[in-house]
This record gives sequence, structure tokens and C-alpha cells, in this order.
Amino acid sequence: MVKRIGWIAPVVIASMLAAFLFLAAGLTAQQAAPPQAMNQMVPDNPSDHTPPVQPIPYSHKKHLSLGLDCKDCHTNPEPGKLMTFPDTSKCMLCHVTVANDKPSIQKLAEYAKSKQAIPWVRVYTVLPGVAWNHRAHLETGVKCETCHGQVRQMEAMSEVTSVTTMYSCLNCHEMNHAKAACDTCHKH
Ligand code: HEC
Ligand code: HEC
Ligand code: HEC
Ligand code: HEC
Ligand code: HEC
Repeated sequence: MVKRIGWIAPVVIASMLAAFLFLAAGLTAQQAAPPQAMNQMVPDNPSDHTPPVQPIPYSHKKHLSLGLDCKDCHTNPEPGKLMTFPDTSKCMLCHVTVANDKPSIQKLAEYAKSKQAIPWVRVYTVLPGVAWNHRAHLETGVKCETCHGQVRQMEAMSEVTSVTTMYSCLNCHEMNHAKAACDTCHKH
């Protein structure tokens, strides 16, 4: 009896210690690298994500390098759930004069003149009927880049993350202890 306890106890203590060190290492790793952890909240898109051909070759990289901010073009008006696209008149604030000899800007000017919305090809879409809204997410402090990738580096917008998949929604909800029951996103 004594011999067996004597043999088991150190093994148990050693494995508990190992488990503790493992947990402690995990915790310090998480605390030491919050930006990395933020990136992992939404996995990259493993499928082909060639940018769609847009009616006008708009570049996020070029325009954001001018000092513009996301909210200069994408707002989330109440009570909507969408970030919306900028009015063409906003583009024309600059393009009445900037690069107005270029074919792409002449096409832009035609849209502006006809007061037609530019038919941008959508990049990120969830199935209709799934409960989704930007506001609830932005209010928790999640950054645009966490869900849409390094937009400031993108010459052409493409679906670089898998944020529209159910797996990604659930993964991030679990990481952040947000609701994950089916009816959170699927109302009846
Ligand atoms: C000068 C205006 C402007 C600014 C500033 C801007 N965007 Fe955009 N954004 C657009 C336009 C125009 C489109 C549609 C064309 C395209 O997809 O490239 C678009 C498309 C997008 C899309 C794709 C939406 C979809 O599903 O089709 C995302 C995501 C996006 N922008 C995120 C951002 C983020 C994040 C920032 C800030 C880092 C930003 N944008 C700054 C004009 C802007
Ligand atoms: C703050 C001013 C500003 C705003 C607002 C702006 N642009 Fe631009 N845009 C520029 C500048 C500056 C360039 C670079 C011009 C150059 O390279 O000669 C440019 C370049 C472009 C080009 C490339 C032109 C070419 O063929 O070389 C396109 C297309 C374009 N913008 C579309 C848009 C669209 C669409 C919007 C609205 C969603 C928009 N821009 C809003 C300043 C602006
Ligand atoms: C929690 C993840 C998440 C965050 C954070 C987020 N988006 Fe989105 N975004 C999405 C999803 C999912 C869609 C597709 C929604 C749909 O089908 O309408 C989307 C769609 C869009 C669209 C297309 C128009 C629309 O509203 O459907 C634009 C533009 C956009 N996002 C810009 C932004 C900008 C700018 C920010 C930061 C201010 C941002 N997003 C933050 C997940 C996110
Ligand atoms: C980057 C992390 C992240 C991603 C990705 C994400 N969510 Fe969330 N979501 C959250 C957090 C955190 C909350 C909790 C907000 C709160 O409790 O106020 C939340 C809340 C919600 C809510 C409840 C909103 C409300 O009004 O109470 C819905 C619905 C939702 N998310 C749907 C989705 C869907 C659908 C997707 C995928 C298309 C998604 N979420 C992707 C982090 C995320
Ligand atoms: C955090 C949000 C979220 C939660 C929670 C969630 N889903 Fe989903 N679900 C989605 C999104 C987003 C899609 C659409 C994905 C796409 O557009 O490709 C989806 C799609 C589906 C689909 C296929 C959609 C269709 O209509 O064909 C089924 C089935 C489904 N979910 C079942 C479930 C079940 C069962 C649960 C509970 C165990 C659940 N979901 C929980 C976000 C969620």
C-alpha cells in the first residue's frame, strides 16, 4: 500500500504540475499577443478569392493612403444593419477635378450625372434570413480589419476572410462568450 501511494503521488503531482505549467504558458501566450489573437478570431478564406470585376476599378489602398477613413465612405445609418456604400457625389467632391481625363473617372462622372447608384459587385454576403448586423459588433469594439482583413493594403477588394461562414460566426462567438444558440442567428 505505502509503496503504491509512494509511487503514484509523485506521478500525480508531476502531471498536475505539467498541466499547470501548460495552462500558465497558454495564458501568458494569450496575454502577450493580443493583436495575433484578434486576427485569429476570423480565419482566412481558404477558397479562391479573386477580386470580382467592378464597374469602376476603385482602389482602397490608393484612397486610404490619402488619409481618408472607413467612416468617410461607410456609415451604418439607423436603424439599418448595413455599412452602405458611398454616394457617387462623395467621389465627385474630388473627381470633378482629380484625374478627370481618365476613362474610369469619366465613367464615374456619368453615374454621378445620371444619379444612378454604381452597381458595385458585392464581396461579402451572408444568406438572407440570417440575423446579422454591423452595429452590435462595432459596439463591442471589433475592428473592421478583424472581419475584412488588411483593407488598407488592398488594390482590389476581395473576400480574404471567411467571416460569412457559420463556422467563423460561431468560432468568434465562442471565443468571446457571446450567444451561440441557433436562434441567436436563425429566427423562426
Ligand atoms: C473613398 C471611399 C471609401 C473609403 C474611405 C473606404 N471604402 Fe470600402 N468601399 C468603397 C467602395 C466604392 C466599395 C465598393 C467597391 C469595392 O468593393 O471595392 C467599397 C467596398 C468595401 C467592402 C466590400 C463590401 C462588399 O461586401 O461588397 C468592404 C469590406 C470595405 N469596403 C471596407 C472598408 C474599410 C474597412 C475601410 C477603411 C479601412 C474602407 N472600406 C474605406 C469605398 C470606400
Ligand atoms: C479625397 C479625394 C478623393 C475622393 C473622395 C475619391 N477619390 Fe478617387 N482618387 C483620388 C486621387 C488623388 C486619385 C489618384 C489620382 C491619380 O493617380 O492621378 C484617385 C484615383 C481614383 C481612380 C483611378 C483613376 C485612374 O484611372 O488612374 C478611381 C477609379 C477612383 N479614384 C475612383 C473613386 C471613387 C469611385 C470614389 C468614391 C467612392 C473616389 N474615387 C473618391 C482622390 C479621391
Ligand atoms: C464581426 C465582423 C464584421 C465587422 C467587425 C465588420 N464587418 Fe463589414 N461585413 C461583415 C459581414 C458578415 C458582411 C456581409 C453582410 C451582408 O450579407 O449584408 C459585411 C459587409 C460589409 C459591407 C457591404 C455592405 C453591407 O453592409 O452589407 C461593407 C461596406 C462593410 N462590411 C464594411 C465594414 C466596415 C467599414 C467595417 C468597420 C467600420 C466593418 N465592415 C466591420 C462582417 C463584419
Ligand atoms: C470577431 C468576432 C465576431 C464575429 C466574426 C461574429 N460575431 Fe456576432 N457577436 C460577437 C460578439 C462579441 C457579440 C456580443 C455582443 C454583445 O453581447 O453585445 C456578437 C453578437 C451577435 C448577435 C447578437 C446581436 C444583438 O443584437 O444582440 C448576432 C445576431 C450576431 N452576433 C450574429 C453574427 C453572425 C451572423 C456572424 C457571422 C456572419 C457573426 N455574428 C460574427 C462577435 C463576433
Ligand atoms: C452566430 C451566428 C450563427 C449561429 C449561432 C448559428 N448559425 Fe447557422 N448559419 C449562420 C450563417 C451566417 C449561415 C449562412 C452561411 C453562408 O452564408 O454561407 C448559417 C447557415 C446555416 C444553415 C444552412 C442555411 C440554409 O438556410 O440553407 C443551417 C442548416 C444552419 N445554419 C443551422 C444552424 C443550427 C442548427 C445552429 C445551432 C446549432 C446554427 N445554425 C447556429 C450563422 C449562425
